[in-house]
Amino acid sequence: MSARIIDGKALAKKVRRELKARVETFAETHRPPGLAVVLVGDDPASAVYVRNKTRGCRRAGIEHFDHILPADTSQQALIELVDRLAADQRVDGILVQLPLPAHVDARAVLARIPADKDVDGFLPENIGRLVVGEPGFVACTPAGVMRLLDEAETPLEGAEALVIGRSNIVGKPMGQLLLARNCTVTMCHSRTRDLAAHVARADVVVAAVGRAEMVRGEWVKSGATVIDVGTNRVGDKLVGDVEFAAAAERARAITPVPGGVGPMTIAMLLSNTVDSAVRRLGIS
Ligand code: GUN
Repeated sequence: MSARIIDGKALAKKVRRELKARVETFAETHRPPGLAVVLVGDDPASAVYVRNKTRGCRRAGIEHFDHILPADTSQQALIELVDRLAADQRVDGILVQLPLPAHVDARAVLARIPADKDVDGFLPENIGRLVVGEPGFVACTPAGVMRLLDEAETPLEGAEALVIGRSNIVGKPMGQLLLARNCTVTMCHSRTRDLAAHVARADVVVAAVGRAEMVRGEWVKSGATVIDVGTNRVGDKLVGDVEFAAAAERARAITPVPGGVGPMTIAMLLSNTVDSAVRRLGIS
């Protein structure tokens, strides 16, 4: 195996350490940054995400306001809660964990989050800001991927970058972030005709399709950097969207699953929350 393994756990730890120091300085003259987390129902994966998010807050010195609600909570009750959090001066970020139960229109609930508290970067206003290059919140997973690419000293200027997956929360913002760094970006998705040919051309591959080992190692261009956003459960193992061992034979650097992108996502959420507090209270 020749690729450098990009250690997302170590980088997330470094980011969290820097944030903790920032939070301590900030809290000397202001209240601590605050994140409100809303979880509806008992989806086990969501419960784990939310637990990790609140633990991350606690460790960084960020105040967290947890709202764990039953699955039959009405849309109206959720809207009223988000409206209260929107007006709450202690709250710098509001995160409504997705998916919401089927009887709730997630868009209608998310639309109540003010753009300047949208630390998930999910609202059209923040996505639009990213597209036109104005400051705003960037979705946490793609923001984490950019940090990993930089950590691996990936040349991006003029590089052929391939994003596999076109979700609103990963693929689309990912493409924009790479474009902003002067990559030539290709977006592939479930209807793409010859994925192998696109992968073979790419200097940078970001795989975010949610299908175990769909990207074959033998497709990867020699010297490419590969970031694997996938976390697919296969039996009792977690595997990525990329066939790791074979890809690592050819890549210059690659993220593992687990221990690559995952830890960075929460670190970026904490970072967005601290940025929000600093922006809202008008200091740096
Ligand atoms: N569900 C899965 N990932 C996420 C995320 O990053 N944010 C929210 N709000 N919900 C999610």
